[in-house]
Amino acid sequence: MIREILKYPDPRLKQVSEPVTVLNSELAQLAEDMVQTMYHAPGVGLAAVQIGVPRRIIVLDVNHEEPGKHLLKLVNPVITAREGEIVWEEGCLSVVDYTAEVRRSAKVEVKAWTLDEKEITFQAENLLAVAIQHELDHLDGKLFIDRISRLKRELYTRKIKKLLRAGRPLEPRTGPPLI
Ligand code: NI
Repeated sequence: MIREILKYPDPRLKQVSEPVTVLNSELAQLAEDMVQTMYHAPGVGLAAVQIGVPRRIIVLDVNHEEPGKHLLKLVNPVITAREGEIVWEEGCLSVVDYTAEVRRSAKVEVKAWTLDEKEITFQAENLLAVAIQHELDHLDGKLFIDRISRLKRELYTRKIKKLLRAGRPLEPRTGPPLI
């Protein structure tokens, strides 16, 4: 089922997500809804808190050429090692009409659980590394606009509040892949 994606400044996006303690069919259904919602948006990553469920689960698929082939559903993901720096133009399904350059680690090593209770470790770089760091921020109640200058963020906040007052429906912009 496609769910509604919460949009900034919805305060629920600031919740810190709780670790998942039970892998059951309810969680599998949540992950499936997240995948459908991500592809429908369309986006390349989604955290459960973005559909209002503050649990540590994320889905990612950064490969546009073969959708589904590299789909990741990660439970309680953590970054166990980082290397280098990368600046990437980021957009977010929860932040409409805005993208900005964000500095992150260029390579990360990730540890997570799969839905079938396997613990996995893998390395990521480029967009996948950026997307994982972006989604982990969501799990900690942070958005990419929390990583830009205060001036830029305030200009964006002012713009989005004006749009909300005007009753304009908030739709994600097109441009770089939305995370
Ligand atoms: Ni996002």
